[in-house]
Amino acid sequence: MPNPPLISPTQIDAAAVQAQLEQLARFSSAPAPAVTRVLWSEPDMQARAYLREQCATLGLEMREDGLGNLFARWLGTAPELPAVASGSHIDAIPNAGMYDGTVGVIGVLAAIRALQQVGFTPHRSIELVVFTAEEPTRFGVGCLGSRAMAGTLTLAQLASLRDSDGHTLEQARHAAGYTAELAHVAVPEGHYVAFIELHIEQGPVLEQAGIPIGIVQKIAAPSSLRITLTGEGGHAGAVLMPDRHDALLAAAELALAVEQAACSSGSPDTVGTTGVLRIAPGAVNSIPAHAVMEIDVRDTDLAARDRTLAAIRTATAAISIRRGVQATVELLNADPPAPCAPALTDTVRHVCQTLGIAAQPMISRAYHDSLFMARVCPITMIFIPCYKGYSHRPDEYAAPEAIATGIAVLAQTLAHLSQVSA
Ligand code: GLV
Ligand code: MN
Ligand code: MN
Repeated sequence: MPNPPLISPTQIDAAAVQAQLEQLARFSSAPAPAVTRVLWSEPDMQARAYLREQCATLGLEMREDGLGNLFARWLGTAPELPAVASGSHIDAIPNAGMYDGTVGVIGVLAAIRALQQVGFTPHRSIELVVFTAEEPTRFGVGCLGSRAMAGTLTLAQLASLRDSDGHTLEQARHAAGYTAELAHVAVPEGHYVAFIELHIEQGPVLEQAGIPIGIVQKIAAPSSLRITLTGEGGHAGAVLMPDRHDALLAAAELALAVEQAACSSGSPDTVGTTGVLRIAPGAVNSIPAHAVMEIDVRDTDLAARDRTLAAIRTATAAISIRRGVQATVELLNADPPAPCAPALTDTVRHVCQTLGIAAQPMISRAYHDSLFMARVCPITMIFIPCYKGYSHRPDEYAAPEAIATGIAVLAQTLAHLSQVSA
């Protein structure tokens, strides 16, 4: 197989990439610069339609599954061989920025465009995958699309998912026009030869080191809990302090216990976050009777992550007894870490050397669809620096040149992998 042509960062149409990222950012239910794009909301549907148009202009063959995962394939000369896949997500948590996920989607389009412009023809097909709901915002579980593609969610588990308005996943997907059977979402073994995800780092390491590319070796193990506390409501003026069973105060103690558990796990990499706290009835003159908390716990070390989850359960039991509130703990997910394939990290390292671009190995502390694609085929991720490591906030930023460099490395890697025959 001939060597693919070299794609340097200057051959990436950075202006077109920026225009596409900005267009996507306009599909938002929060005012700019914030981006909020929740699964199957109006802005999400508009963004999906826009992406389909962009894929069509490159002549990609498109398909969508019953969960709304979008597959856009640049057919190779050997379409019967497992394809090389790359992609990410376009959903955005409330009050987020415009680069998380989108860089890895628009980046594939730009990589394909650059390769088409130099007359490259892939041997294996190259496929963009736009995953449904990498963010857990709507149904409480992250990486919904890739999780289902990896076959890790049973049909019964999918059927049990409900959003905070009580809509089932089944109702929501049908309302969005996705009616194909969920049984067909799982990807058969051998479907892809490799999956590469381009993403902003979402941490400060690359920017501080002045290194343009991070090559991910491992993705940390994420988990989340939903804890529902039921105390006793009542009149804020009339019920004296010793007689109260305030669900919010139990939740407040528990949030501090989460911090304590993460800090004393024995691993410096453990992080614990109470990111959701909803109370009811939610009136200033009413004692909170109910509290729902959602708690995120992660580490690259599975044992430390699991010790932290156990410590949070122990604290929940102690606090609920002491405060006379009832607690139920649901484990929403507890996923193992994902290793990246040495053959792929070596390929990316080699590509960076060939292009004269400095790169360093990294850990991904954030999770990504790659975590689940690792169960489908070998994976790795290409990280680019972002301003101060900011992410999941409106001032998230990656410079156009940094994005173009990441796309050039991605393009070269995809081109190389598409030529590997065995
Ligand atoms: C993904 O957005 C994560 O929370 O790591
Ligand atoms: Mn995110
Ligand atoms: Mn992301």
